[in-house]
Amino acid sequence: MEKMSWNVKEEHIVDDLVALLSITAEECQLLRSLQGEAEAITARMVDEYYDRLLAHEMTREFITDLAALKRTLAQWFVKLFCGNYDKNYALDRLRIGMAHVRIGLPVRYPLAMFDVLDRYGVEVAEKKGPEAVIAFRKVLALDVATFTQAYDNTQLNHLKDLVGGSETLARRLLTDKY
Ligand code: HEM
Repeated sequence: MEKMSWNVKEEHIVDDLVALLSITAEECQLLRSLQGEAEAITARMVDEYYDRLLAHEMTREFITDLAALKRTLAQWFVKLFCGNYDKNYALDRLRIGMAHVRIGLPVRYPLAMFDVLDRYGVEVAEKKGPEAVIAFRKVLALDVATFTQAYDNTQLNHLKDLVGGSETLARRLLTDKY
C-alpha cells in the first residue's frame, strides 16, 4: 500500500520533479539568459491576466489590492526564468500556493489561468529557439505541480489531524479504495 512518493515532502518535491521532468543544467542556463526579456513583457502579461479575472464574476470577488497583485504576479513570472530550481525555489512556490489555499480560492481558477502564463512565457522563450520553449514548459509544469501540491498538502494534513495523526489512514481515505 505504501508508496515511495508519499515520503517526499515539502521542499523535497522539487528534486523529485526536476528528476521527473529531466530539467538539465543547459536548460537552466538557457532560461536564465532570458530573464531580462521576461521582465520586459510583464506589464502586458499582468494586464491581460487580471483583465480576465476581473471580467469574471466568480474570480473578481477574490481580487483585493489589484496593484499589489499585479506586482507579485510579475515577480513570480520573472522568477520562472531564474534558472535555479532548488529547495528554496520550491519553498517559495509552495508558500505562494498556500496563500491561495488560505483565501479559499478554488484550485480550478489558478489552473485555468496558466494558459496566459504559458503564452507569454513561450513568447519570451521563442527568442532563443525551440529548446528554450521546451525548457520553459518544463519549468511551468514544475510550477503548476508545486502550486497544486499546496492544496493537496492542506487536505492531507487536515484529514490526518481529523483521524488522529495517521497519515496512512488519511491517504487511504483519499483513495477510492477505502
Ligand atoms: C497561475 C496562477 C497564479 C499565480 C502564479 C499567482 C501568483 C500570486 C503570488 C505570487 C501572490 C503573492 C503571494 C505572497 O507572496 O504572499 C499571490 C497572491 C494572491 N493571489 Fe494569486 N496567483 C495565481 C492565481 C490567482 C487567481 C486565479 C486569483 C483570483 C481569482 C488570485 C488571487 C490572489 C490573491 C487574492 C492573493 C493575495 C492573497 C493574500 O492576501 O495572502 N491568484 N498570487
